[in-house]
Amino acid sequence: MKDSSEKQNGSSGSDQAAPKSPSVLWAGRLAEKPGAEAFAFQASIGVDARLARDDIRLSRVHAAMLGRQGIIPAETAAALDAELARIAGELEAGTLAIDPGAEDIHSFIEGVLTSRLGDAGRMVHAGRSRNDQVAADFRLYLKRTVPELRDEIAAVMGVLLDQAEQHAAAVMPGYTHLQRAQPVSLGHHLVAWCAALDRDRGRFADAVKRLDECPLGAGALAGSGLPLDRAAVAEALGFARPTLNSMDSVADRDFALEIAGGCAITMTHLSRFCEDIVIWASEEFRFINLAEQWSTGSSIMPQKKNPDFAELIRGKAGRTTGNLVTLLTILKGLPYAYDKDLQEDKEALFDSLDTARACLRIFRGMMAAASFNLERMEAACTGGFLEATDAAEYLVRKGLPFRRAHETAALIVRDCLEAGRRSIAEQPLAALKKRSELFEDDVYAALTPAACVAARKLPGGPAPEEVRRQIRELRGRIA
Ligand code: ARG
Repeated sequence: MKDSSEKQNGSSGSDQAAPKSPSVLWAGRLAEKPGAEAFAFQASIGVDARLARDDIRLSRVHAAMLGRQGIIPAETAAALDAELARIAGELEAGTLAIDPGAEDIHSFIEGVLTSRLGDAGRMVHAGRSRNDQVAADFRLYLKRTVPELRDEIAAVMGVLLDQAEQHAAAVMPGYTHLQRAQPVSLGHHLVAWCAALDRDRGRFADAVKRLDECPLGAGALAGSGLPLDRAAVAEALGFARPTLNSMDSVADRDFALEIAGGCAITMTHLSRFCEDIVIWASEEFRFINLAEQWSTGSSIMPQKKNPDFAELIRGKAGRTTGNLVTLLTILKGLPYAYDKDLQEDKEALFDSLDTARACLRIFRGMMAAASFNLERMEAACTGGFLEATDAAEYLVRKGLPFRRAHETAALIVRDCLEAGRRSIAEQPLAALKKRSELFEDDVYAALTPAACVAARKLPGGPAPEEVRRQIRELRGRIA
């Protein structure tokens, strides 16, 4: 935008003056303009430049509607449409650069139009305000980018489900309180992660459905006396309907909160998975082997292979929590309707979207290249009496009340510890029978880690065929 040197900024020559180019949209009322530092402080072009596509699409629909409604001449509407299309093409091709000195993306696009078309460009803003414009741009942007984020989540699930399928029968300890609890399988554990990711996809889909309303026509807050056609604009932009109330249209940022919440929850999930991975990668566990290309070394300790990617994803979850808190805090004290504070919304949400997207992609690559130490996992199922619950259920199946069975199994664990045994299966039948006559020879086959897992085949359980069913179910949902 070389040619926008209309002298709207005033006080030229003073070193307090705002940049002469570009012009601002509100120059008429104010004889004095902010100085350069203050102008830059209130500008948002550095953040909202990524809305350029959406802003142009919106302006084309708005201009066409103004022409159809007889608010501007038909040939002006046609000229605006052609020029907006050209600007979009030039931005795409890189032959037009977004002016970093512009106030925001809306001012920039309108400024280019006016510098090229004169009065025709000055007609495009009839019946609208940047308040409804930015709310609509923001929603359009989210409608096209949040589905991409859902696809990234599905891609992560695809990698995890492949691994889960491969390891549907690979036993490993399941933990509560980070203490060995009961044997499960690696497949079961990985599907647990996927169940959380599946909800994340659902949350984003819900949020996009709810934000699918067009604020255009709300103006600054009070609508417009011009005969705008809100329904046609909403439809042409692909929205389900226009928003209900013009004040709410410019004041509402629930959609940003919901998407930021979705990002924060998704990142919280990734962070927990990464915590598992960091623990699994430790020498004490050695359950997972992260690929060398998904690890980093130490500048001083020559032997190190660190799970930095997992740690960094865990760390970046803090940003998305912070962004959600930022948005909630911005909104909580805002008087109706629009306030400039709302301009801070995009930086926070864009950061959450960028962070979630980057972390999902890194997590996927890291997991696709990871391998597991199946022998270590299986071995870890022995020695912690993870089969004690299954021993109690063995007795329940033979008619003992559960509370008695629980107590009996607990006493057997104590017997074993005293006798220096590592599992109930190491205890001779005579010793078991001293605690309960119900024990028979079949107890030994029932208490191997694999048998414990195979017995728990209820819906949701870790039995291999049930884990495979869960995998099929989730594959169906992301197909
Ligand atoms: N850049 C502004 C934002 O992001 C656009 C709306 C400005 N409206 C206003 N009345 N100053 O919110």
